[in-house]
Amino acid sequence: MLVLGIESSCDETAAAVVEKGAVIRSSVVASQINVHSRYGGVVPELASRKHIEAIVPVIQEALDAAGVIFPDIDGIAVTRGPGLMGSLIVGMSLAKSLAYGLGIPYVGVNHIEGHIAAVFLGDDPPCFPFIALVVSGGHTHLYVVKGFGSSRLLGQTRDDAAGEAYDKAAKMLNLGYPGGVIIDRLARKGNPSALSFPRALRGEGYDFSFSGLKTALLYHLRKRGDMPVEGELADLAASYQDAIVEVLVEKTIRAADETGIPRIVVAGGVASNSRLRERFRESVGTRRLGLFIPSPELCTDNAAMIAAVGNAFLERGRKDSLDLGAVSRWPLEE
Ligand code: KG4
Ligand code: ZN
Repeated sequence: MLVLGIESSCDETAAAVVEKGAVIRSSVVASQINVHSRYGGVVPELASRKHIEAIVPVIQEALDAAGVIFPDIDGIAVTRGPGLMGSLIVGMSLAKSLAYGLGIPYVGVNHIEGHIAAVFLGDDPPCFPFIALVVSGGHTHLYVVKGFGSSRLLGQTRDDAAGEAYDKAAKMLNLGYPGGVIIDRLARKGNPSALSFPRALRGEGYDFSFSGLKTALLYHLRKRGDMPVEGELADLAASYQDAIVEVLVEKTIRAADETGIPRIVVAGGVASNSRLRERFRESVGTRRLGLFIPSPELCTDNAAMIAAVGNAFLERGRKDSLDLGAVSRWPLEE
């Protein structure tokens, strides 16, 4: 089955053609970073307008790159939520029109499930069930995933998402937006033990909290007076990053230990972080745990991951109706 995936939930307009839910024939991502960076975050109204401009050429580019035409497509998968309402509606409307015009089924996909499904696009996909840590700009969620459409939430952030903790720190340090990738790069030159930052809820359940960490950084900068530079800045980035990474790794490994499920999937934009990947690899090394992390470009928003989920539902014969609405909030758990 050849599925056209469409993703427009936030600030990336993306389309992909995926075969059998596993082989990426093409994946095109048009980023709006330039539009939003000067505001230090995504401006919803601008995002929807940019999606409207980009979506048709992006889909055409995905078809061309895959060497296919519309009649070759068997079904369409589109992100239905969670995300920015105005942005989601752009993708949903186009998916419905195409499905109607081509006389093929379409399904609305949960963006979080998409992030997790990115792992099925690699060479070594896991089998169900597995523990999934989803860490992105809007989510820090830990699940037991039993199958497509069947997940149980173990814990989540009580305040900021992990990606938000990165982005807000970068903003405080005048490093630009989005901050995750900038801090990741900077931290490689720093000493993670140079400064001590709080690890909230450590050892307690599966929930996370990152707002105290952000406040600790703010107080540190206020006390210091001016902005740190070079070596000190790198140490600060490395220490701050380790406070995030350490709790994420510890709780996920503990979830695998306590549930007895020996497979871990790490997904979402923050899963492209080099230190997080390294620490996960080190931690599973001594245990009998399978670790599955999509390649960095499949961790951040893309449409191939949406097509991977859609393929599973379309194979089951699901066909969403044309009056299905986009949803800004959509918990994944059944
Ligand atoms: O999954 P994603 O592309 O979009 C959402 O669904 O939110 O995630 C974006 C988030 C941003 O907060 C960004 O700063 C973070 O992922 N991110 C990173 C890295 N690359 C992206 N965080 C840490 N290290 C990275 N290398
Ligand atoms: Zn995302």
